[in-house]
Amino acid sequence: MHLALAPMAGITDQVFRGLCFEKGCDLATTEMVSAQGFLTAPKDRNAYRFLLARQENEGPLAVQIFGSVPEHMEMAAARLSEMGLFCAIDINMGCPAQKVVGGQSGSALMKDIPLAAEIVKRCVRASLLPVTVKMRIGWDEESINAVEFAKAVTDAGAAALTVHGRTRKQQYSGKANWEEIAKVREAVSVPVTANGDIWDAASALECAKVTGCASLAIGRGALGNPWLFREIKAAFNGEAYEKPPFEEIMETALRHGREMIAWKGEKSGMLEMRKHLGWYVTGQRGVAKLRTRLNLATSLSEVEQLLATLLRRETEE
Ligand SMILES: Cc1cc2nc3c(=O)[nH]c(=O)nc-3n(C[C@H](O)[C@H](O)[C@H](O)COP(=O)(O)O)c2cc1C
Repeated sequence: MHLALAPMAGITDQVFRGLCFEKGCDLATTEMVSAQGFLTAPKDRNAYRFLLARQENEGPLAVQIFGSVPEHMEMAAARLSEMGLFCAIDINMGCPAQKVVGGQSGSALMKDIPLAAEIVKRCVRASLLPVTVKMRIGWDEESINAVEFAKAVTDAGAAALTVHGRTRKQQYSGKANWEEIAKVREAVSVPVTANGDIWDAASALECAKVTGCASLAIGRGALGNPWLFREIKAAFNGEAYEKPPFEEIMETALRHGREMIAWKGEKSGMLEMRKHLGWYVTGQRGVAKLRTRLNLATSLSEVEQLLATLLRRETEE
């Protein structure tokens, strides 16, 4: 089974991706990058330097762009494909955020199939790399059009699709509709990656069964748990899997923090780490009392002390 890390803005940066690759992820995608912003930003602008950064320990990495102006998308695809860092250009046609759909980008493109197809066609023409599309199953329950949409973008040249089994209206709530992903897989001849609600080995096996997909993309399930890739791979190979001991989780959280700080400096690195720390310790005994302090931590040594407290509690009980 091929396992991808689903793109997540503010999360799937080079440090987190590196950890996921180390633990069995086969393909990752950058956080979404605005095509227009990328084209107009000064070359050294931090935001783009960070968004496009790639570590040496990473495996195949696609870069994801969003936008609604075909010319911008085409130029961004051309330039990004020439950087020699990425294996594919992925087009975001699934983001539900108001500021993205307000500009007719992301999942708003599912309401305008001719524009979506035009964007794909232009990007395919301009890019040196394969162009892929990440989509949802439709705008809302009344307008599910995943099959029609998937046919149009693959006819326009998309080389593969990732389908998140929710509508834009659902955002991230309700249950992902894997049956609809199965319909897309049957309707197109390019590889389809199933996405949505894969939280553990059991849901991964079930999703693969229902969708018939040979590739799965994991988003929120990997937060604080990059080991999920290893767990799922083991399940597909019929091998036993043991969850990592608490010490290993803490060591990984600290390493994540150290790498983040080495990259972005202590202040921004710590700010970005807080959410990850919260995810790493989720479910550990005694964490409720420490959560606020972890959230306010300003240095890694402070985090180290707080995690050591948790570890002592764990081993004493
Ligand atoms: C915080 C967050 C940020 C996300 N950012 C992106 C993004 O930049 N591009 C994208 O295509 N999808 C984005 N997504 C959607 C995920 O890639 C994925 O489709 C969705 O979370 C469903 O998968 P899951 O149930 O495994 O989390 C984001 C999701 C979350 C929770």
